[in-house]
Amino acid sequence: MPSSDYLSQLFGLAGKVAIVIGGTGELCGAMAEGLAGAGAEVVLVGRNGVKAQTRLDKIASAGGKAWFHAAEATSKSELVELRNSVVQRSGRIDIVINGAGVNSATPFLDITEEEFDRIVNVNLKSVFLGCQVFGQYLVQQGQGGSIINLGSMSGVVPLSRVFTYSATKGAVHNLTLNLAREWAPAKVRVNVLVPGFFPAEQNKKVLTPDRVASIMGHTPMKRFGEARELIGATLLLASDGAGSFITGEELIVDGGYHSMTI
Ligand SMILES: NC(=O)c1ccc[n+]([C@@H]2O[C@H](COP(=O)([O-])OP(=O)(O)OC[C@H]3O[C@@H](n4cnc5c(N)ncnc54)[C@H](OP(=O)(O)O)[C@@H]3O)[C@@H](O)[C@H]2O)c1
Repeated sequence: MPSSDYLSQLFGLAGKVAIVIGGTGELCGAMAEGLAGAGAEVVLVGRNGVKAQTRLDKIASAGGKAWFHAAEATSKSELVELRNSVVQRSGRIDIVINGAGVNSATPFLDITEEEFDRIVNVNLKSVFLGCQVFGQYLVQQGQGGSIINLGSMSGVVPLSRVFTYSATKGAVHNLTLNLAREWAPAKVRVNVLVPGFFPAEQNKKVLTPDRVASIMGHTPMKRFGEARELIGATLLLASDGAGSFITGEELIVDGGYHSMTI
């Protein structure tokens, strides 16, 4: 039987530094709390300082260590500045979560180029840049590391109404698996965490009553997920102990949504 010491080695993150892009939001904020609870020093990244402070207070009151760095996730120069300031202040980077995301339910024929570009920029370009800026650092350091990109069920099967969102998430899944293969020799693991349906800021407009009924009819557990239910999967992917042989994985947390057929 594994000892409790061994189990804490599996999931403990003491001494690690985690950057959580989207950490001011609902899901990645909860994931950040989980990482801090496991002992990591956490850097919350987003643009909203008020939401960041609320999350920092929660982490601090639970005894965790975290700080906020404001950055635009679609800007390479701001991500490079983020990388430099984390290395300067915390001395290292071990875990990176690319979770900035926006959504829209515009009917396909009405999607403007402006809207398409905006969603592609936030959901896909930010992940591309996050992987490039932090992947380069992790590979060069040669100490391994874990990158977790936020995917979606719509990256697995195209969900109705969210056309641009689905296209970007499909691309995030594809990029994740591509990089997992590239960086496995450098022990940098790249995985995609795939939440099912969790109420949050970015999908408020999309979750109309008829859509909620349709989601519930398709979810064997008959409920939405709660953000804290992503913490276990996050620690599994983040930890070089528990996740040592896991890369290129699409880890679905959806109450059985993807297993529903008839
Ligand atoms: N909720 C779900 O059911 C669900 C399901 C599948 C996947 N996801 C994915 O999970 C991730 C988190 O979403 P959420 O549901 O937790 O939504 P949320 O609460 O709206 O959080 C979205 C986060 O993205 C950040 N963000 C957006 N645009 C940004 C930009 N240009 N630069 C920097 N940060 C930016 C926001 O930060 P600021 O407000 O501070 O700028 C916010 O922290 C997204 O990638 C989403 O697609 C969510």
